[in-house]
Amino acid sequence: MKITLKKATEQICRGGIVAIPTETVYGLGVSLKFPRSVKTVFKLKGRPQDNPLIVHIGTLSQLKDLVKKVPSSFSRVKKFWPGPLTVVFDANLKTVPSAVRSGLKTVAVRMPDHMLLRKLLKKTGPLAAPSANISGKPSPTCVKHVEDDIGVHFPILDGGACRHGVESTVILLKEKSWELLRAGFVCREDLEQALGLPATKQNQGTKPRSPGQKYRHYAPKAKLVLCFSKKELRHKSVQKKYQAVLGFDDTDNRLPLVSLGKRNRFQSNLKRLYSCLRRLDDRGYRFVLVDCDHQVSGLGFTLRERMEKIRG
Ligand code: TXA
Ligand code: MG
Repeated sequence: MKITLKKATEQICRGGIVAIPTETVYGLGVSLKFPRSVKTVFKLKGRPQDNPLIVHIGTLSQLKDLVKKVPSSFSRVKKFWPGPLTVVFDANLKTVPSAVRSGLKTVAVRMPDHMLLRKLLKKTGPLAAPSANISGKPSPTCVKHVEDDIGVHFPILDGGACRHGVESTVILLKEKSWELLRAGFVCREDLEQALGLPATKQNQGTKPRSPGQKYRHYAPKAKLVLCFSKKELRHKSVQKKYQAVLGFDDTDNRLPLVSLGKRNRFQSNLKRLYSCLRRLDDRGYRFVLVDCDHQVSGLGFTLRERMEKIRG
């Protein structure tokens, strides 16, 4: 149910939960002042308790209350705000409820680049918000997706279709190093350039630094099988069980095609990704081949990372 900015502000300030637009994907927004409502967000999504939420801020001045200390390296990535970059800081444990952090001592913060949401945030203060999908389903990039997952009667602040359509990049930022916790709409190369050093690699087998890394996200009902060359795709597509291909406009195949647009046009590929995944489910496909014959630099890496997570 679409509601006005005024209604959304009122509901959130009373401890309600409202679906909010961002430039990446829709979120389920809740005020940090209502830890009980934060717990309800986890229930609503069926989200594991140990997977913390991102806190969204409308102004830089809202940051200082949420964190213990801002590392000096932050000045090098500040230019990505407002925008699709989430930074993990040491949390101010007094102001960020444990439910938001899933008991961790850190907090993930981002300043979204969406006019309507920023207007809301200036009135409500910081909002915790996970993506507004049922856990395990593709993230919602328009109002219809939120309605399909959370219900037509759920309050939604309509900000139109999401401009980027894929989630923010999540990084852990220290004084002298940084880690890429989730690939997203800000690519690793741009961060490396801004920070002047490569991301620290996570050792294989160590505990995930971001709890979200261990979950299979964005999963459609169909089983996706990734093909990394034209030859592999051709070879597999003669097997009877495959019903469709998730690929690009020029994917040459006898099976029905769900297209992400032109090959190696990653901004538009990513923007279409979650709608395409939902389309595969709507058409009832169970076994789908994925054309993964694309570049993997820049946002191509984000596309590849998402595909690998979807495959599980
Ligand atoms: O673009 C986005 O980031 C969207 C919009 C709504 O802002 N939000 C989003 O939230 O994708 P969610 O909850 O679906 O994903 C948040 C990710 C998870 O992978 C979670 O594990 C990680 O951020 N995260 C949150 N707090 C963290 C923390 N303190 N340390 C490490 N990772 C954290
Ligand atoms: Mg999510």
